[in-house]
Amino acid sequence: MLQPPIQLPPDAELPAGITLRRPRVADHPVVAGAIPDWWGMPGTSIHLLLPPLFFQHFSDTSFVVEDADGMAAFLIGFHSHAQPGVAYIHFVGVRPDLRNAGLARTLYETFFEEARGAGCHRVDAITGVPNRGSQAFHAALGFEASGDTDFDGVRAWRDNDGPGEHRVAFSRAF
Ligand SMILES: CC(C)(COP(=O)(O)OP(=O)(O)OC[C@H]1O[C@@H](n2cnc3c(N)ncnc32)[C@H](O)[C@@H]1OP(=O)(O)O)[C@@H](O)C(=O)NCCC(=O)NCCS
Repeated sequence: MLQPPIQLPPDAELPAGITLRRPRVADHPVVAGAIPDWWGMPGTSIHLLLPPLFFQHFSDTSFVVEDADGMAAFLIGFHSHAQPGVAYIHFVGVRPDLRNAGLARTLYETFFEEARGAGCHRVDAITGVPNRGSQAFHAALGFEASGDTDFDGVRAWRDNDGPGEHRVAFSRAF
């Protein structure tokens, strides 16, 4: 499948030796295999939240990052079909040894530019209550957090993803 080229925002750059491209279906096992460890949840099935359909149907709005050691980071997102003008980031992950260097920010800002160019005016995402790192990251990127209930000091939507599956919702308008 021919994929749209990726252009970094003018002020963004990737560290030397790091390359950015669109995902392929063949990347799914590698990405899914990395998720439990990268999320700090080894032995869990958290990777089932990212089935191959995202690589089949949303590769044109997603990114994978590679370096000499293999998969370095990824962002899986899309422009909503049912809500024109809204984009959604489903999963983002950066290999632990590459964190705190601005890589996820670059992926988000590249996604924002593409979404803006496609006519979107807002980007949404959600995360789990215990994922304080994700909450801090989204706050640093200018997202507003919302929820209807306080869980251990975190406002989240009760049972958002099913019974007991509370989620913090994030929204950033352009
Ligand atoms: C969350 C994650 C993607 C951040 O990736 P990263 O490349 O380290 O993030 P960046 O270096 O681009 O950070 C961007 C900003 O977020 C802040 N930030 C990132 N992670 C943070 C954390 N754990 N705690 C506090 N702030 C954090 C940075 O300080 C930075 O702020 P600044 O630009 O104002 O200085 C990465 O930690 C990760 O893969 N976590 C596991 C997977 C996950 O939870 N994904 C999100 C839910 S889908």
